[in-house]
Amino acid sequence: MKVLILGGTHFLGRHLVESALRRGHRVTLFNRGLTAPGLFSGVEEIYGDRDGSLVALNGRSWDVAIDTSGYVPRVVRASAEFLRPHVGRYVFVSSISVYANFDKEGMDEEFPVGQLADAAIEDVQAFYGPLKALSEGAVQSVYGSDSFIVRPGLIVGPHDPTDRFTYWVRRFARGGNVLVPGTPDRRVQFIDARDLADWMMRGTESGLAGIYNVTGPSQPLTMGQLVMTLQSAIPSSGRPVWVNENFLVQHHVAEWSELPLWTTGLPGFMAIGIQGALRAGLEFRPLVETIRDTWEWDRARIAPMKAGMEPQREDALLAEWSRR
Ligand SMILES: NC(=O)c1ccc[n+]([C@@H]2O[C@H](COP(=O)([O-])OP(=O)(O)OC[C@H]3O[C@@H](n4cnc5c(N)ncnc54)[C@H](OP(=O)(O)O)[C@@H]3O)[C@@H](O)[C@H]2O)c1
Repeated sequence: MKVLILGGTHFLGRHLVESALRRGHRVTLFNRGLTAPGLFSGVEEIYGDRDGSLVALNGRSWDVAIDTSGYVPRVVRASAEFLRPHVGRYVFVSSISVYANFDKEGMDEEFPVGQLADAAIEDVQAFYGPLKALSEGAVQSVYGSDSFIVRPGLIVGPHDPTDRFTYWVRRFARGGNVLVPGTPDRRVQFIDARDLADWMMRGTESGLAGIYNVTGPSQPLTMGQLVMTLQSAIPSSGRPVWVNENFLVQHHVAEWSELPLWTTGLPGFMAIGIQGALRAGLEFRPLVETIRDTWEWDRARIAPMKAGMEPQREDALLAEWSRR
């Protein structure tokens, strides 16, 4: 297939490129040339800003466009309309953040999505989920049954720019007592970017259409199981100290960012229903492989963490927790 990726050089996009190339497809990237230009030798790159400057794509055709960089419905609609005469199918990367709330476990794709009070809003930081939902709608209105919409949960693995999973890998590798929130039976969900990319490419090849939640693994995973797998994957790694959630809330620990993979009051957020994607062939590599590859990638870079708890803060909280 001739594959056009709107994006392709940061995280999920680069795994999509690698998956597509491995599977023998011809790949073109369209982006601004700001993030890792020339990352893939032999892959055509066309530069332009998708917000208003798609002209560089004029006169070309592809079998499929994969949109990893769409956040604003106006901009997504413009790409879909521009490409419709020249590109057969449109794959849009959305998010589980579209859902109106996370009160329930096991939500499928029919669950209501969040709404915007004002259709003119384009503040992605504040309204990421509802804007993704409207962007999905824009793609579907232009591409109809030729659209394939993917709603990932937390995406993890090598090149993850958010460090939300990498924090736990680096933290257990540092050793000592590790502050871990809640109880070991707390459920967690995420997907290795490479499993997501491979499944998306297989789905694209087979003409998968419609909307899919995509996260993992296939059977419920707990934080306790993740911790045990971290310990087994990383030699001489840290020991968990399970700290009560109320204690953390009282000490204003920021959920999801200061302690990633932890939220309170959102039971459905890491318990999303993925039956549709499983029926459509979603597969997962062993967790230990995701951990080891993330660790190897993280050790080779010099980067301060973008998420996670500062060591001094962790020490102070652990000391207070043990004195209580
Ligand atoms: N990370 C998660 O846990 C998570 C969870 C759920 C859903 N998602 C979704 O997954 C997607 C993956 O994002 P990613 O960053 O990994 O994708 P990516 O394709 O690896 O990187 C983003 C690409 O978009 C390009 N780009 C950004 N702004 C652009 C513009 N105005 N015009 C043209 N190109 C532009 C960037 O290149 P230039 O900078 O050179 O333009 C870059 O190549 C996102 O849609 C995100 O919402 C992520």
